Amino acid sequence: MININIVGKSILAPMAGITGYPFRKIALKYGADFCFTEMISAIGFLHNDKTTLELTEAGKDIKKTGIQLFGSSPEILAQAAKKAEGIGFKVIDINMGCPVKKVVKTGAGSAILKDTKEFSLIVKAVRQAIKDSIFTIKVRSGFDDNSINFIEIGKTAESFGVDAVFFHPRTRSLMFGGIADHSLTKKLKDVVTIPVYASGDIFTVDDAIKIKSSTGVDGVMFARGAIGKPWIFTEYLDANSPPTKKDLIGIKLKTDIIIELMEEMNLFYGKERGHKLIRPHLYSFLRGFRGSKGLRCEVNNAQNEKEIVNILKMITDEGEFV
Ligand SMILES: Cc1cc2nc3c(=O)[nH]c(=O)nc-3n(C[C@H](O)[C@H](O)[C@H](O)COP(=O)(O)O)c2cc1C
Repeated sequence: MININIVGKSILAPMAGITGYPFRKIALKYGADFCFTEMISAIGFLHNDKTTLELTEAGKDIKKTGIQLFGSSPEILAQAAKKAEGIGFKVIDINMGCPVKKVVKTGAGSAILKDTKEFSLIVKAVRQAIKDSIFTIKVRSGFDDNSINFIEIGKTAESFGVDAVFFHPRTRSLMFGGIADHSLTKKLKDVVTIPVYASGDIFTVDDAIKIKSSTGVDGVMFARGAIGKPWIFTEYLDANSPPTKKDLIGIKLKTDIIIELMEEMNLFYGKERGHKLIRPHLYSFLRGFRGSKGLRCEVNNAQNEKEIVNILKMITDEGEFV
């Protein structure tokens, strides 16, 4: 049996449209202990559809990459989990947190939290389907304010042999609004013996340190906090191992890393798609500079990679980081 420790202490969270192979590769290179694919349709995965195959690409990083599956049928999720194990994924996660209507109305994502009977059937089936791989679930605190049931979910998961829980302490109704209430994370951590990892509003290294120490979780997941800032993992590593080298990640290195990410994306997706998919990273990166709105327009108007690189190099030399 593989040890849960392989996921480490700082993890790149699954993010649809963001955590494709190029971004995962860069996050791992710059300090993430582990990363996840975005949520993958269990049915699509079983049918080998083209989009799904691209989303599950992990190259030689497969040992540090978990696959996240979504679906509502225990049998299909179990078959997909078995297939993922066969391919070589060491960690298989089931999405039980996605709040998006299109997903929820099929009974998948956070809808699974509504029906604890269905939840039990899913975890039982997936657990039975995989032999050696780690089996995790990623959940929210409940479906809505009237059905906050993460304690029951956590305990049931533990009793059925789930190896760890990734916990985002918001209900489905909150979507991404309000704040992630990590006092709930502590409550969950206190009642289960399996590892619990925190997700939610971890935008900076300080957020991660505070949440880790106030909840006692086994590790943290960076999500929006890593978009356009993959060095957040290096900073987190450094913050945990004094003397701190934090200041070494200067603006020049940051710009180089963003350019490296852009190159990886162009290589993997082709220039046209790469040009589109790099945008959330660029917008997030530029937000750190004075005059970021204007810079965002400039990037939007850029016709190709070379023009973007020129803008990035210009701000590295002349820009003011705020
Ligand atoms: C663009 C985007 C896509 C996401 N896609 C997924 C997903 O595919 N699977 C999942 O479990 N969570 C997904 N999430 C949720 C994140 O993994 C994370 O739990 C959430 O953003 C809270 O963390 P944060 O507040 O630090 O961003 C997504 C979040 C964002 C912003």
